[in-house]
Amino acid sequence: MFADDDRQTPALLGFSVAMVILDEWHLLNLCVYPANQRQGVGRYLLEKLMEQARAQKADRMLLEVRKSNRAAIRLYQSVGFEDIGYRKGYYPSHQGREDARVMRLFLT
Ligand SMILES: CC(C)(COP(=O)(O)OP(=O)(O)OC[C@H]1O[C@@H](n2cnc3c(N)ncnc32)[C@H](O)[C@@H]1OP(=O)(O)O)[C@@H](O)C(=O)NCCC(=O)NCCS
Repeated sequence: MFADDDRQTPALLGFSVAMVILDEWHLLNLCVYPANQRQGVGRYLLEKLMEQARAQKADRMLLEVRKSNRAAIRLYQSVGFEDIGYRKGYYPSHQGREDARVMRLFLT
């Protein structure tokens, strides 16, 4: 997603990456440039992705998120994602490894 302004070079605000496995979409990354966070960009990108997935008749979307990532978890919960499990030590962290929450949203 790029800023819509008069600059010669468009500014990248954020991006999302998803992998499609038949009727399941896996959200691999959702990232908003720090200076542009808390302005609705993350929600916009996520809702666009959900819209795209629904248009392609996807049944569900899955993701992993760090247990400590309160901002992302709140965003995911606000659009209907629910916990379905966790992956122990999934992410590297300063303390060694950190668990991931596995979340799912039914799209139909
Ligand atoms: C998670 C992330 C994508 C959210 O993007 P954003 O553009 O800042 O989020 P939005 O402004 O659209 O906010 C949507 C909701 O997310 C939640 N949220 C976002 N930032 C938050 C924060 N710092 N603290 C608590 N909740 C937060 C809120 O529920 C918010 O809704 P509200 O504004 O009505 O309260 C962004 O913080 C980011 O890029 N983080 C670093 C990368 C990352 O962790 N990605 C997720 C990987 S799984």
